[in-house]
Amino acid sequence: MDLTPDNIESVKSSWNLVISHHLEEQFMSNFYGHLFSTYPEVKSYFPDNKISLNSKLLETLNLAINGLDYIDALENDLKELGKFHENMNITADQYFPVIESSLHALNEVINKELTQFDKQSWINAFQLISNIMISGYTGALPENSLSFDEPSLANTETGKNPAQ
Ligand code: HEM
Repeated sequence: MDLTPDNIESVKSSWNLVISHHLEEQFMSNFYGHLFSTYPEVKSYFPDNKISLNSKLLETLNLAINGLDYIDALENDLKELGKFHENMNITADQYFPVIESSLHALNEVINKELTQFDKQSWINAFQLISNIMISGYTGALPENSLSFDEPSLANTETGKNPAQ
């Protein structure tokens, strides 16, 4: 998965739009709302008391997005994070719902300002992060790598833009 400097710039500027318009809370509630309604099978991983992780999730997003510039240096940490997820029995194919829901939330909150390239960059970045995390799995779970139709994901139906 190639991530060009232009992809990285695009992901950062999309995320900066969320931050600068103070849409983080909307992003988070949209993310969880879409994740749980579209992929009810992953809901059991997030007990109610874990959903209050909002600020942690935001912190993680900030770190991940800013870390794209030095992703190689983060490899070991991301692999450890992968093992942590493996220990929660989260399989590789469960990363798709999370990535798709993050793109959905992005579309919802800054839809009009996103280009096709921005959407593709977002997917590529989160696929890259997920793949590194999954490469840290010890193999206790069935082997399955992330693969999905990126262009169709980038074409995800866009909804109303509450920011407008
Ligand atoms: C894009 C890939 C992902 C990233 C970057 C990510 C990042 C993180 C981070 C940084 C934490 C906090 C770790 C800690 O407390 O030390 C976390 C916790 C958690 N993640 Fe993920 N995650 C990803 C994918 C997933 C997926 C696919 C699922 C489930 C479908 C998931 C479910 C959880 C849950 C339930 C926790 C809370 C664990 C706890 O507090 O006990 N994550 N994640």
